[in-house]
Order: sequence, then structure tokens, then C-alpha cells
Amino acid sequence: MDNALGFELQSDPILSADEVIGLEKQYLLQNYARYPLVLDRGKGCYLYDKAGKRYLDLISGIGVNSLGYAHPRITKVIQKQAALLLHTSNLYYHEYQGRLAQKLSEASGLQRVFFCNSGAEAMEGALKMARSHGRKISPDKFELIALEDSFHGRTFGALSITGQPKYRNDFEPLLPGVKFVPRNSERALEAAFSDNTAAFIVEVIQGEGGIKPVCERMLKKARALCDKHNALLIFDEIQCGVGRTGTYFAYQLFDPIILPDITVLAKPISCGLPMGAILASDKAAAAIAPGMHGTTYGGGPLTTRVAVEFMDILAELLPSITSTGSYFRMRLTELARKFDFIQEIRGVGLMIGIQMSVPGKQMVLDGIEEGLLFNCTHDTVLRFLPPYILSEEEVDRAVEGLERVFTKHVNRQQNL
Ligand SMILES: Cc1ncc(COP(=O)(O)O)c(C=O)c1O
Repeated sequence: MDNALGFELQSDPILSADEVIGLEKQYLLQNYARYPLVLDRGKGCYLYDKAGKRYLDLISGIGVNSLGYAHPRITKVIQKQAALLLHTSNLYYHEYQGRLAQKLSEASGLQRVFFCNSGAEAMEGALKMARSHGRKISPDKFELIALEDSFHGRTFGALSITGQPKYRNDFEPLLPGVKFVPRNSERALEAAFSDNTAAFIVEVIQGEGGIKPVCERMLKKARALCDKHNALLIFDEIQCGVGRTGTYFAYQLFDPIILPDITVLAKPISCGLPMGAILASDKAAAAIAPGMHGTTYGGGPLTTRVAVEFMDILAELLPSITSTGSYFRMRLTELARKFDFIQEIRGVGLMIGIQMSVPGKQMVLDGIEEGLLFNCTHDTVLRFLPPYILSEEEVDRAVEGLERVFTKHVNRQQNL
């Protein structure tokens, strides 16, 4: 008996790392190409595998574990709430939806909030809002515009506005009336808009697409075109939002801010518990009347209470997200001078990409060997989305490890 409860649980750990992998290979849908790492526990910015080896986590469950692992306040809140009430459904009230909605509304400048369980689900709701908004004006006003190389999720609506054929092709036909335009092409955007446009959907910083910011001019143009054609401007801040950039939302990096009609968020908001949300202006929210949208689990007392606690901690953390992010990029820029396959260091706050001229997959595996976790997106971009509590000492450790990873790559090339 190795737990503190005084009785054994059916779910207590019993398997070796090889047995874990074997069981998954036999019984799970084989849709993931997992890295060969079986995780056991975490503390701060570190994860530990079954053998007790330590890894500095620079990807945080793809931007989810915002306060790292076993954060004392988050652990306490989860324990307290687990003993009180986990689920109510949306038939009834509980204290935390309203408290969290108030915090998100004040942080975002958008008046109305809907809670759900994932990024894709938030995007689905936002698309329904856009369709309903358009339909109130004209039956032809259902068209959606999105960017090439975007990523908005795996459900049918979200996939329909995801501008990457590799995610879409196997599932077509998708939603009709979607147009894609290149990032930062104001001309193409203007040409795509008409009075039949219901919404333009954009990640303020493309994540999956390779940590690529959309420029201020493009976003301003989008705001103006949405106003002109009475379409909704939807920012997908699932990856770049909720503190990741050192501001509550990436659209607040601009001065003056470019306020959307709708923002969708997810990943970091509940510190590892599944939660998504739609934040909408009163105008956009008016498209949804009682009965038109809903969810069984969304906005439950556990996830929302954790998120209330998180928002409080985040208010104090924002300055250090900015400063640690700048320090990380500065150290990476220095490192890049030593390796000619590194083309660019991109990003804001703790959302950072290393653009390379070579594929990054092997480097991710070498990183694991070095005790460093990050991933590779768009084939040649190493992506870093560390916990918001990352320290400068941890950045130094990360950069030292990355230098060894890059040196390994150079040696491998020379031995070919
Ligand atoms: C920008 C963006 N939108 C949507 C999604 C989908 O979120 P989820 O995986 O929670 O459905 C993601 C996930 O990576 C994302 O990065």
C-alpha cells in the first residue's frame, strides 16, 4: 500500500513502462504517434518518468499546465472541491461559473462567457454564434474566412476553418462557404470579404502553424472589414491566450488593443483540467437565445473553481511571463549564432519557436534523452510553451541542453 489513504485503490500503479506501452498498443485507437516516455509525476516545471528520471518541461502538455505540476494552491483547491462537488450539470447554479465569468470579462473587455470542455468545442460554439448572427441578417450570410496554415481543432466545424490540408483531406466534404487567405495579406483578405461573410477567424499568433504572429496591420484591417460588412471578428486564443504572451490576451499586445467580437480560449485556463470558453461581446452573444447551445459538463464546479484560483495567480505572474520570455529569446538568439541551420527565433512571452532549415523530429527525441521536453510543429519549428512559472535558471538549463541537442545534430550530419 503506497498511498496515504490507508486502503488500496484499484487504480494504484502496477505496470512497468514497457507494460504501459504494450497495453496501449494493444487496446487504444492508434491515432497518436507518442514519444517513448511514460510519465509518472511532476513538481514545478519538472516531470518524472517511471524510472525517476527528471525532465524540464518546456511544452507543458501543449500549453496547458500553466502553473506546472503540483502547484500548492491548485492542488489544495482540487482537493477541497473534490470533497464537496464535482458536477452539477447546467440545470442548476453553483458559485464558480459567475465568479470566473466576471474575471474573464474584466480581463478581456468582452461581456458574455460560455464554458465548455476543450478548444475545439469552444470554436464550434463560436462558429454557431457566427452562423446565427449571419442568418438573422440574411440566409446567404454564412460564409467564413480563415487563414492558410491555421489550426482550430479536430471537430468538423473547427476542421472546416483549419487551413492545413493534412488535417482536412481525409474527412471532406467539410462545411461549405469557407475561404482561406494567406497570413498578412490584407489585399487577399479584402477580396475574400463580402456582405455574405458571417465571420473572420484568426489566431493572433499561429501556434500549430509554427509560432507565426499575424501582423497588427492585418488584424486592424480585419476589424475594419468586419465592421464594414457586419461580420464577427473571432480571435482563436486557445494557444496564445490567457497569459501566454504576458498579457491576458494576445490582442492586448497592440496599442490601442484590437478588440474582437468573440475570443475562444482553452488550454491554460484550468491548469491541466479540461476547459474551454467563448468570450463574446453583447452584440455577438445576442445571436444565441435560450436552448440554442449547451453542454453537459461545461463550467462544472471543479474546473471553474480551479480557474478562479488560477486567474488570481496569473494577475501576479504576467510581468514575469514577459521578462522570462524575453530572457529565453535572448539566450536562444545567442545560441542561434553558433548553428547555421537556425534561421529565426520567434514569439512573444512564453510562446517561442525556433525556425530551422532542417526537420526537428530527431531533435525532440534527443531532447528527451537530455531531459528536456519540447515539440516540433510544421516539420521545422521547435516549439516552446513552458509553464508560466519558468525561472531564468531553468531557461539557462534549457539552453545548455539545447546546445547539446544541436551539437548532436551537427555531429550526425557530419557523420553521414
Ligand atoms: C489555436 C488552437 N485552436 C484550437 C485548438 C484545439 O483545441 P483542443 O485540442 O483543446 O480541442 C488548438 C489545440 O492545439 C489550438 O492550438
